[in-house]
Amino acid sequence: MTAQIATAGAGQFALGLGLTNECNLTCAFCYRDPARTDRLTLDQVQRVLARLPVRSVNLGTGENGMHPEFPAMLRFLRGQEVKLTITSNGHSIAVLDDDAVRGFAEVEFSLDYPTRAEQDAQRGAGNWDLIRAQAARCRRLGVGVTIIAVMMRANAMRLADIADVAAQFDAPLRINVYQAVQSDAFALTFEEFWAGFAALFARTDVIAIGEPLVRAMAGLPPRQGGCGVATVRVTPRATVLPCVYWPGGGAPLDLLLDRGAGIVDTPPFTAARTLPPACAGCAFRPACGGGCAGRRVLSGAPDAPDPYCPVMRGEDRRLSIRLAPRRDLAKLDSACTTIVMARG
Ligand SMILES: C[S@@+](CC[C@H](N)C(=O)[O-])C[C@H]1O[C@@H](n2cnc3c(N)ncnc32)[C@H](O)[C@@H]1O
Ligand code: SF4
Ligand code: SF4
Repeated sequence: MTAQIATAGAGQFALGLGLTNECNLTCAFCYRDPARTDRLTLDQVQRVLARLPVRSVNLGTGENGMHPEFPAMLRFLRGQEVKLTITSNGHSIAVLDDDAVRGFAEVEFSLDYPTRAEQDAQRGAGNWDLIRAQAARCRRLGVGVTIIAVMMRANAMRLADIADVAAQFDAPLRINVYQAVQSDAFALTFEEFWAGFAALFARTDVIAIGEPLVRAMAGLPPRQGGCGVATVRVTPRATVLPCVYWPGGGAPLDLLLDRGAGIVDTPPFTAARTLPPACAGCAFRPACGGGCAGRRVLSGAPDAPDPYCPVMRGEDRRLSIRLAPRRDLAKLDSACTTIVMARG
């Protein structure tokens, strides 16, 4: 038997929408399935918004600007009372006119390395310049910018350098730990995970920590919302998931349209907030809750503690952090993510 972590009640949801899984790039670490093309229709997007009490919408999964109805989708989403954000490699912003870009509360640009040569080697020639140009354009238009990096083996010790690049655009850095969806080639070892976060926090101030183990080891209190509670992901394949990395493809969108906010009572959502039995007596349990449920499921041991758990190894990996003044970021409480700002 596993203990259940309480839900936050019928609050408003952070909705992740993948309009398409098409992309102009082919990053080797990417979790999307490049072997097929799937697209949500405008009608499906409208029905989701009509059915679910949504507070924020983030566009992700592929490169949304590749969807033929992208401008129409944006016009619709802009008319909703939601905070609209997008995660992009730069392309989806470059194809929009200034007025459309102003429709975003915030634009997240993916930057995984602090130099042009490394970024372009990973993502493709010209990507560094594209991101810098579009990030500068967003700032000129008064649109907030966040830089987002995947923390993986090759960049784990250099995240603070990426935060320095982000600061050039007055942007925080959001970090998602690499999740081994398609392959574990980029996965961090236990040592790399903890050394990477310690090095990051030595040079940056913390805006938010949603990555549960890191949050617990940094001594922060339990957070509200999060996976299985207040985040819903709708994939281009018209399925619904508690987290973008959740394996198995997801439940049909009709289930969400039928249940609305009650989607959190379906099995993947309850699994996402279920405490592994071995965590029951742990002092870090309130903030950690067993760690990242998506990672546990991907590792093949959903009922075991997070693979990066130091407690199960008898180790102390407490982290020293300095808090930044709070910023009003749209995605503060979404997913297992960490947000920092370069110091000074
Ligand atoms: C899938 S992309 C979609 C948006 C856009 N194409 C981009 O790259 O920003 C969304 C974010 O997920 C990150 N990402 C991709 N694969 C990942 C993985 N396996 N683990 C963690 N993050 C990943 C990307 O780097 C990007 O920051
Ligand atoms: S740009 Fe984004 S969606 Fe495209 S392959 Fe890279 S990470 Fe995946
Ligand atoms: S045992 Fe590990 S994974 Fe479980 S709650 Fe404690 S710190 Fe988190």
